[in-house]
Amino acid sequence: MTGPGPLGALLGRCDVVICVGTGGVGKTSTAAALGVAAAEAGRRVVVVTIDPARRLADAIGTGRLSNSPSPIPGPWPGTLDAVALDATAAFDDLVRRRARDAAQAERILTNRFYRAIASGIGGTQEYMAVELLAELHSSGRWDLVVVDTPPSANALDAFDAPDRLRRFLDHRVYRALTASGSGIGRVVGRTAHGVVRAAGRVAGGEVVDDAIAFFTAFDGMEDEFRRRAREVTELLRAQTTGFVLVTAPRADTVAEARRVVDALAGRRLRIDVIAANRMTPRFTGRAAGSLEGDDPGLRTLARLTARREAEEALLVGLAERAVDTPVVALPLLDRDVTDVDTLAELGRLAVAAPSIADGHAGPVA
Ligand SMILES: Nc1ncnc2c1ncn2[C@@H]1O[C@H](COP(=O)(O)OP(=O)(O)OP(=O)(O)O)[C@@H](O)[C@H]1O
Ligand SMILES: [Mg+2]
Repeated sequence: MTGPGPLGALLGRCDVVICVGTGGVGKTSTAAALGVAAAEAGRRVVVVTIDPARRLADAIGTGRLSNSPSPIPGPWPGTLDAVALDATAAFDDLVRRRARDAAQAERILTNRFYRAIASGIGGTQEYMAVELLAELHSSGRWDLVVVDTPPSANALDAFDAPDRLRRFLDHRVYRALTASGSGIGRVVGRTAHGVVRAAGRVAGGEVVDDAIAFFTAFDGMEDEFRRRAREVTELLRAQTTGFVLVTAPRADTVAEARRVVDALAGRRLRIDVIAANRMTPRFTGRAAGSLEGDDPGLRTLARLTARREAEEALLVGLAERAVDTPVVALPLLDRDVTDVDTLAELGRLAVAAPSIADGHAGPVA
């Protein structure tokens, strides 16, 4: 157990934690803060960001993060590494690792058809994100992989990407092009001929030549890709993979969060904890109505307390949508989350935060 609250418990029992949510709610800050909290609890942690704004890099103060994990020094008993995803470079690395030899890798990497798919067509970015996650998870170098997700509305596509890749590899055009047998001979087999001629009429001969050369070069690697895509899907659904939905206590944001809950459910993925970020801090265990008096300080306290109560009421609907999912409050801090000390503070508050449904038993924050 990393802390007494639901987020602490989640960090304690999971080896992968994925932060999802709509734009600007604090996914990157929460992911990094949870990473720091777990490192403080003695775990070996890597935080992955696919955040194009590079806010995690700024927060951690390392400048530009790279595809290979870099250590973030800090006063914790565990270790903390961080990595930012450059999807195109990551796909190239993957091809290099999976290729039989340098020549096969070179043939693929210099192929125009490959360059087109590697630079973003067909969900490559999304696939690479989850592939990197699986890679870090299976390396054995870390006890916990914390993943931040991008602000785009279709960030959840990342979780479909392994299935999509598998469907592509099973697609009849792909199968026809690479049909039984091996080597280039099979690519120009009779079925393939028809497909290729038809494709050539639409796309032009040059494109088709590139595509054939690509699939030929890819020969022998697709089984490994298919196996890995299956593994990634299993990892996303594993008991030890936790999803944290980050949201903010505003009506429109909560409505969007509700849609994220439904979208994940549609993918058979479950939110484990809802983290309501930038909540008005709770300064007292008393209810707003009981804070009456003429003292200006007391009136301010009553107003802030009423505001906090209204924010908690907004979140009730979300909790009802995601049944049995604890909702925890992360307070609005008095400064931006741009350095390791602030991340550590947010992390400590996060792992200690009680479920708001448990009343006001937890620390006042
Ligand atoms: N609890 C907090 N208290 C004060 N400031 C916060 C808090 N959480 C986040 N912030 C600030 O809010 C801004 C947005 O946070 P963050 O980058 O983590 O959001 P995000 O969900 O990752 O955004 P995007 O969707 O654009 O990637 C940042 O400037 C961050 O420092
Ligand atoms: Mg972000």
